[in-house]
Amino acid sequence: MDMFNLRGQTAVISGAARGLGLAFAEALASAGCDVAVVDILQEPSAALYELQSRFNIKVKYYRLDITVRDDVIRTITTIIQDFGTINININAAGVVTDEPFLTTSDQNLRRTFGVNVTGSFLVAQACANAMVDRYKSHHGEEPARGATTGSIIFIASIATYIASTAQQISCYTASKAAIKGLVKPVAMELSRYGIRVNSLSPGYTMTDMMKGLQDEQPKLVKQFEKETLFGRIGLPEELKGAILWLSSPKASGWYTGQDLLLDGGATSWKHPAVLDE
Ligand SMILES: NC(=O)c1ccc[n+]([C@@H]2O[C@H](COP(=O)([O-])OP(=O)(O)OC[C@H]3O[C@@H](n4cnc5c(N)ncnc54)[C@H](O)[C@@H]3O)[C@@H](O)[C@H]2O)c1
Repeated sequence: MDMFNLRGQTAVISGAARGLGLAFAEALASAGCDVAVVDILQEPSAALYELQSRFNIKVKYYRLDITVRDDVIRTITTIIQDFGTINININAAGVVTDEPFLTTSDQNLRRTFGVNVTGSFLVAQACANAMVDRYKSHHGEEPARGATTGSIIFIASIATYIASTAQQISCYTASKAAIKGLVKPVAMELSRYGIRVNSLSPGYTMTDMMKGLQDEQPKLVKQFEKETLFGRIGLPEELKGAILWLSSPKASGWYTGQDLLLDGGATSWKHPAVLDE
């Protein structure tokens, strides 16, 4: 549909070597968007490169630890050279460790806030600067009247809406609340350049991150299934429509400064969920 046509645009997606980030890359690729992926893994899933021929788009992978500012700036500069422009930035890289609040370690605090907050901040900041430079080269200091320069999307979490008895993730939840906290002030600061800033909060979704948690705690997925209204957890595919909508200026040009919660109804009712039932 024309409203969702992103041909000729470039998206920088962090954490898209696998998981939700990869599903987001597929969603944008299916709309004709070129995709630059940054992730710490040595190699991305083969499915990432397949997008190139499936959708006749450009795909490049950049190995990057998003917590290191100089490396982020260097990589985003290379992406601009390789692709010419950045229109969309999705910040899906993230980590989670299940650890009780009472004994949460410094290592967990440093790593979780380092990746989820500082890393997302640095990538978004570098992408936003590229978008602003492009805006200024066309419009000078004249404030934007329409939102067409770019879309920045942070990935927060259902965890900031409701605590689950199945997990002890206060450190992770605080990091996601911090990311959600960025959305309104940054949306305000960047609106004059026609850049929209939002977050997407996924509910429980089956990815490698979820599989890792499940290995440590086999009842986890059963518990999450009970917590949604459909009795099942989500699939990465089920977030594609939302990310495409948030990315497309013609479809969501009036939407900025918000968090979009997509959770299979898990936060819509008072459930009597207990692990040992
Ligand atoms: N799966 C869920 O149920 C769920 C629910 C709510 C929110 N989320 C959020 O969605 C996002 C994606 O989660 P996922 O389930 O796909 O996880 P995942 O573990 O499958 O993917 C996360 C990706 O981030 C990358 N990454 C980690 N540290 C990095 C670093 N320092 N630099 C660059 N890349 C790094 C990993 O290599 C990985 O490819 C995360 O922010 C997560 O917190 C997931």
